[in-house]
Amino acid sequence: MTTHLDTEKIHSIQTNLDRPVVLTGMMGTGKSHIGKLLADALDLPFYDSDQVIEKRGGISINEIFELYGEEKFRESECKTILDLLDNRACIIATGGGALTTPDVLKGVKDKSHSIWLKTDIPTLIRRVEKNKNRPLLKEKDPEQILRTLYTARAPLYEQMHFHLDTSSSDANAVLESIIDYLVSSIN
Ligand code: S3P
Repeated sequence: MTTHLDTEKIHSIQTNLDRPVVLTGMMGTGKSHIGKLLADALDLPFYDSDQVIEKRGGISINEIFELYGEEKFRESECKTILDLLDNRACIIATGGGALTTPDVLKGVKDKSHSIWLKTDIPTLIRRVEKNKNRPLLKEKDPEQILRTLYTARAPLYEQMHFHLDTSSSDANAVLESIIDYLVSSIN
């Protein structure tokens, strides 16, 4: 994977990056997949906020929603992401609804290079149908829920520093775009 990437650019990011890179966007946009690839390419730590919440609490995201509800989940999510933002250079993938918490939105905007991974709704639906681990999509019509969430969240995602379409599954092209963005914003 890394062999296609420009080693000079990688080196420049490794030398100059002084804050986390945050990937955000709707469920199914590839935040965790791209985040891991980016972290590998840059040889930086990778954190998926959902996984950190699960590990810290010894409980799955599904169980948190079932037992305590979304509000409690958002509290843990906020605390976790604010802690992660205190790291120096690293890659963080947030859950898709994280920016709905005002403190998270502010923290991400102020303390990271923030990236919105955008994917068209039909592609999102195809991707999330395969995975049953998303509590917000369990009931009713997942397509309608995704559309409603997208409409509500788009103004939050819009506030991220860099916007990138991930509707095609060309991960290498996505990585190259992120690397170019990082090079231009750290120099
Ligand atoms: C959520 C997205 C999920 C997870 C939780 C809530 C959301 O993360 O945080 O199920 O509100 O969109 P992914 O975006 O990684 O699926």
